[in-house]
Amino acid sequence: MNLSVELAPKHKKGLRLANPVMTASGTFGWGTEYQHLFDIQRLGAIVCKGTTLKPREGNPQPRIAETPCGVLNSIGLQNIGVEAVLREKAPVWAGWRVPVLVNIVGETMEEYAELARRLDGVAGIGGLEVNIGCPNIKAGGVEFGTRPGPAAEVTAAVKRATSLPVMVKLTPKTGDIAEVAQAVESAGADAVSLINTPRGMVIDIAQRRPLLGNIYGGLSGPAIRPIALHMVYSVAGAVKIPVVGIGGIATSSDALEFIMAGASAVEVGTANFTNPGAPLEILEGIEQFMEAEGVSDINQLIGAGRG
Ligand SMILES: Cc1cc2nc3c(=O)[nH]c(=O)nc-3n(C[C@H](O)[C@H](O)[C@H](O)COP(=O)(O)O)c2cc1C
Repeated sequence: MNLSVELAPKHKKGLRLANPVMTASGTFGWGTEYQHLFDIQRLGAIVCKGTTLKPREGNPQPRIAETPCGVLNSIGLQNIGVEAVLREKAPVWAGWRVPVLVNIVGETMEEYAELARRLDGVAGIGGLEVNIGCPNIKAGGVEFGTRPGPAAEVTAAVKRATSLPVMVKLTPKTGDIAEVAQAVESAGADAVSLINTPRGMVIDIAQRRPLLGNIYGGLSGPAIRPIALHMVYSVAGAVKIPVVGIGGIATSSDALEFIMAGASAVEVGTANFTNPGAPLEILEGIEQFMEAEGVSDINQLIGAGRG
């Protein structure tokens, strides 16, 4: 059975995954935290926490609120900064079979390019996921992802600065996500991933104030799955580059829906918090489905449910 997928067919080195199950940025740490729980080398790829030029403390607490069928988070990109990633994390990743994509986010176009430059040619880094949709920071992030023009500009700047495969992560906070996807494709993106979290909030009625320290947060989990699925369907119909589906994926059936909508791979996010073994269970479930359905190559399922 072939489970292998290619996420950067236009790129000279490519980005071949052993299977289509990845982990979503911010929900799987640096990968190392999960090593003792299961064989993470079996995954298709790992995407690390959003990385900025300088370390960030993140937003005021509380930064997590439970909602029906989902989670609101306003972490605000707490991370150790790119220098520590290069010093402490990349050397560990270099010994892994599973490719690691570094999720990068900047406050300005130049910061994105600088991050891409610093990560270029570093052993242990398989590619970049460019986060142009972080809802939780005051400057940068989501501002670049809401319109096709700025999204394309960031993509071009990152592509110029790196020889790594570049996947651009899109936000649902836009008029037409397919248009943004087409713009980043024209600017040279090797793949797109979607969706990042839409904004939401909760009010603590006893305290009579917003529950999150940052007032709003990003909504994730099963609550956003049908929205994400439709966006993946729309984008996959509008671009030729591979599409990676993200949003509330918790089971192999969820993952297969995204793959049949046109995703070449999926990222598992919030599900990791309640079931750290979810990515592996999803992979095994996909294998079982293929066996039961007599499908010998996962690529036959990509887009198979578009109708
Ligand atoms: C606690 C938390 C932290 C996150 N941090 C990041 C991040 O640093 N960069 C990023 O691109 N997305 C981040 N995300 C968004 C996820 O990668 C994913 O796009 C989103 O949660 C939807 O997928 P899910 O419903 O499977 O969680 C974060 C999500 C959560 C819940």
